Amino acid sequence: MLQGKKIVLGVTGGIAVYKVVDLASRLRKAGCEVKVIMTAHAQEFVAPLTFKEISGNKVAVSMWDANAEYNVEHIALANWADMFLVAPATANILAKLSWGIADDLLSTALLATTAPVLVCPAMNSNMYLAPATQENLKRLKERGVLVLPPAVGQLACGTSGPGRLPEPPQIVAAIEAFFAKKDGDLRALKILVTAGGTREPIDPVRFVGNRSSGKMGYAIAQVAAQRGADVLLITGPCALPVPANVQVQRVETTQEMLTACLSAYPKTDVVIKAAAVADFKPREVAPQKIKKKGDEGLTVVMDKNPDILAELGRRKERQILIGFAAETQDLLANAREKLTKKNLDLIVANDVTAAGAGFNSDTNIVKFLYPDGRVESLEKMAKQEVARRLLDAALILKQNKC
Ligand code: CTP
Repeated sequence: MLQGKKIVLGVTGGIAVYKVVDLASRLRKAGCEVKVIMTAHAQEFVAPLTFKEISGNKVAVSMWDANAEYNVEHIALANWADMFLVAPATANILAKLSWGIADDLLSTALLATTAPVLVCPAMNSNMYLAPATQENLKRLKERGVLVLPPAVGQLACGTSGPGRLPEPPQIVAAIEAFFAKKDGDLRALKILVTAGGTREPIDPVRFVGNRSSGKMGYAIAQVAAQRGADVLLITGPCALPVPANVQVQRVETTQEMLTACLSAYPKTDVVIKAAAVADFKPREVAPQKIKKKGDEGLTVVMDKNPDILAELGRRKERQILIGFAAETQDLLANAREKLTKKNLDLIVANDVTAAGAGFNSDTNIVKFLYPDGRVESLEKMAKQEVARRLLDAALILKQNKC
């Protein structure tokens, strides 16, 4: 999403400037073009040379620089920006921006820009919570300035509370979310993704589970969010990091996943059920750990779990419903049967025994099957790429249904 985006990064004077060096580097790695304006106070913390090397561009520091890149630098930078980012944003720059004071290069360029402005306040907690700062922030928000609230924690001044600059990946995620919502082709869609495997308890320490890693579902959630969708990820227990700008709901059992899916379903446009759902659950869950008795084995009687996807298929109205078929034999016949039985719009058939496919692999080899008999066979590719192709297909299905 950030490829080619032009970011003017305004850096003001706070100890968090050191984190913003990393931020500038991450933005550049994400494909942004970054031009930095530093206030005089910011230069007390880090020299402009650091930002010049990191951004690959001359750093603007003064209205009166005879060697400035442009004739009227504050106007040129204001017009150039796709986004104006201020990090860290001190109480001083927030006050100036809120009152329209333009007494240095940064405040003047901020007044002149029509680009979206994102500010990342970072300061002492009392300064942040002071009525003056809060009123300034309120006024800025009312005017459409985006405000990324500070993190709460230990501050350089020795106190603890709100005022820490959020970590650079969080700031990058906020910028990605902004552009995804503005330009992403899935921005109008609410997408529900399920991922991972569900677990059914036998006793407080044992469960019945499966080999799902969650990688496919998490990749779908990540790519959907990057393309601007509102994503709810309902996930079984899984060690993977939650992708940026994705809302997550953690569940353990099939029944919990069913309840979560049914509650989100009416407001959902597209459901992608990548989870490996436990089809059976122990009839009884022992309240205490089951102890061994001599050489005796253990028989666990299993009951059938509800079929979540089939239930969603029965209730389907305007939603697009996409399932996965994890198969070890008769791939197409089994997948087609599930497509029909569960009233799906598309099923992703997946031979989990093939090399480079299925659980735990970073790649997958899948076929898309449609109710009209079409079959699209994809070559072996990264799960991210499968996710991208699947979301392309979901968008077309949704557009055709509207
Ligand atoms: N699924 C579900 N609820 C279940 C079982 C499966 O929602 N109780 C969903 C899965 O998330 C997947 C699709 O149905 O999208 C197919 O799952 P799969 O495990 O391949 O097949 P099953 O329907 O469980 O049938 P079988 O195990 O007999 O192959």
